[in-house]
Amino acid sequence: MAIHVLGISGSPRETGATSRLVQAALLGATAVPGTTSEYVSLAGKAINGCTGCGQCAKLGQCVIPDDMQPLYARLVAADAIILGTPVYYGSATALLKAFMERVQALGSAEKKLRLKVGGAIASGQGRNGGQETTIQGIQLWMHINDMLPVGTTSPSGQWGVTAQAGADPDDIGNDEIVLKKFNRRMKSVESAWLYGRKIATVATLVQAGRAATGLDLPDRPYGQNLPDSYPEALYQLR
Ligand SMILES: Cc1cc2nc3c(=O)[nH]c(=O)nc-3n(C[C@H](O)[C@H](O)[C@H](O)COP(=O)(O)O)c2cc1C
Repeated sequence: MAIHVLGISGSPRETGATSRLVQAALLGATAVPGTTSEYVSLAGKAINGCTGCGQCAKLGQCVIPDDMQPLYARLVAADAIILGTPVYYGSATALLKAFMERVQALGSAEKKLRLKVGGAIASGQGRNGGQETTIQGIQLWMHINDMLPVGTTSPSGQWGVTAQAGADPDDIGNDEIVLKKFNRRMKSVESAWLYGRKIATVATLVQAGRAATGLDLPDRPYGQNLPDSYPEALYQLR
């Protein structure tokens, strides 16, 4: 099995908490045998929001000529995609949001990200500064793309990596979670490492399952494969 995990930082700051957390997750991913990884920072990239022109539905590609263009092939090539972002006013940065909107070009004609495993990481300055609402937004995006969002494993929190760090890029190194029950402490970057390892493991399982069964999603694309009839037992339930 060969799994490729793409990690994307949506922080406008090239080196900061998000950058370190995403790279920690990729290190965890490559601990799973057969996994390769690629890190992309959106910092400094010119990525405009979707204009809703609808051209991608006709042409199968986005017509906006900016820094999003080279990223499309990298997204399609990945088996798992991890998105990280600082919390900006309770949600993802405008930069990551623009990136997420532009993935419309990979979903309008055919959902090209379907069955890719997804991970979400959010760092906020507050202890409860909106990390979970931010992750929820990213996971909704993954659901819309027919991806398979994966959560972190308890007891470090279940939804994704939620970290606390301020403006100092080194701040994240001090952020840790206290696991009272086990009398242990866990750094956010360690939580991200475990998360990356889990994501690559799930992606490996998905790839193996697809190879063994030859199955794809039954109702793709967009319900065009709806059955003409349903099992008789289902009619009894109507
Ligand atoms: C415009 C702006 C809005 C922010 N909004 C929030 C917020 O709603 N909640 C929060 O906890 N932190 C907020 N922060 C702080 C950042 O999320 C936090 O410092 C983050 O760890 C920075 O990540 P980075 O180093 O990857 O850029 C905000 C920062 C900026 C610049």
